[in-house]
Amino acid sequence: MCPGTSLGLQMIHATFGAMIQCFDWKAGTDGNLTSVDMDEGLGLNLPRANSLVCIPVARIDPIPLPNQGKD
Ligand code: HEM
Repeated sequence: MCPGTSLGLQMIHATFGAMIQCFDWKAGTDGNLTSVDMDEGLGLNLPRANSLVCIPVARIDPIPLPNQGKD
């Protein structure tokens, strides 16, 4: 068995939470797609026919410093 199951399951939640809270996501290599290609490929776990490429755009200042931008 995998000894990292418990850590892995906790990290998935923390990681997805941070990805959703800290970034806006634009679709497409140029970030300009208005719809996502949902075509299905062949396989047992329903893979996408075409890879989905997303561009993260930071929406939270990661390190807010006191007096930032005031002097
Ligand atoms: C979502 C995250 C993870 C997934 C999906 C995953 C999946 C797996 C799978 C399928 C195996 C093979 C199990 C078997 O042979 O029956 C495995 C083994 C293993 N995993 Fe993970 N794992 C994850 C996270 C982690 C983490 C975070 C660690 C360490 C910190 C870790 C360490 C290990 C080790 C050392 C083995 C080998 C165990 C052995 O056969 O002696 N894994 N993992």
